[in-house]
Amino acid sequence: MGAPARVVEQRTEKREAGRREEGQVKSTGGRVDLRADKSRTAIEADGPIRLNKFLALIGVASRRTADELISSGRLSVNGETVRDLGTKVNAGRDRVALDGRLLSNEREKRTYVLLNKPKDTITTSSDEKGRKTVLDLVPSGERLYPVGRLDRHTTGLLLLTNDGDLAHRLMHPSFGVEKTYLVTTKTPVSKLDLDKLTRGIELDDGMTAPATVALVAGARSTSVEITIHEGRHHQVRRMFEALGHDVEKLDRIVYAGLTLSGVRRSEYRSLTRDEVVALRRRVKLDR
Ligand code: URA
Repeated sequence: MGAPARVVEQRTEKREAGRREEGQVKSTGGRVDLRADKSRTAIEADGPIRLNKFLALIGVASRRTADELISSGRLSVNGETVRDLGTKVNAGRDRVALDGRLLSNEREKRTYVLLNKPKDTITTSSDEKGRKTVLDLVPSGERLYPVGRLDRHTTGLLLLTNDGDLAHRLMHPSFGVEKTYLVTTKTPVSKLDLDKLTRGIELDDGMTAPATVALVAGARSTSVEITIHEGRHHQVRRMFEALGHDVEKLDRIVYAGLTLSGVRRSEYRSLTRDEVVALRRRVKLDR
């Protein structure tokens, strides 16, 4: 058995990463250009590793998909087609090709950013009307994609990453990722409303799943914390509107166990390694 593979960061990248200490909060007063970080990470292993693991490490496919690619004869190692799922490769030496195209023993560095989205920003990669987007607030050196959407006037926790597998799974309803919102309504929310929100609300696209709901202490009963596991369009606003409450403010305060702690509005931070591992485990991605 070979020693476990590891991802080795290049030196220049390490220095840059040092500047961006894990968890360090960045002001977004100006657009930060991290092009110097755009190095790639080389996969190094002390010995042979399973071909499916190699493919997963360089970001070509999950291990399960890699097994399917191998079984269907689409992989070759040093020019020889392989179909044996037990095939091992030496990451630094063997030439691995998919459909005849040589794969690089590198993958683009993965970046994970937690943004505290302000009002009046659009969750999209580009806006044809030239309005401010969430990408204007985070490092521009990597191509990042928002994980799901927050409405233009919703504030709070939004993840951005170039880890497509993770983003896809976090957004997929089958993983039921939990999101908590702090909702401020214009009119007081009654005990009956809370019960209805808890059980589920009939919307035009069907009944919502049960939610966890709590009134936030205060005289006016216009502040509610609600945790849902779905991600339908305008879901929280529609749930409250169905009960006759206009939403004045909507702030996402928790996403998949991550909170806004220490990150002020319009600021962002990189996720720590432990947070990334926990997120990937949460959606059953090996790491
Ligand atoms: N629900 C909404 O209505 N809006 C959001 O931005 C997020 C959840």
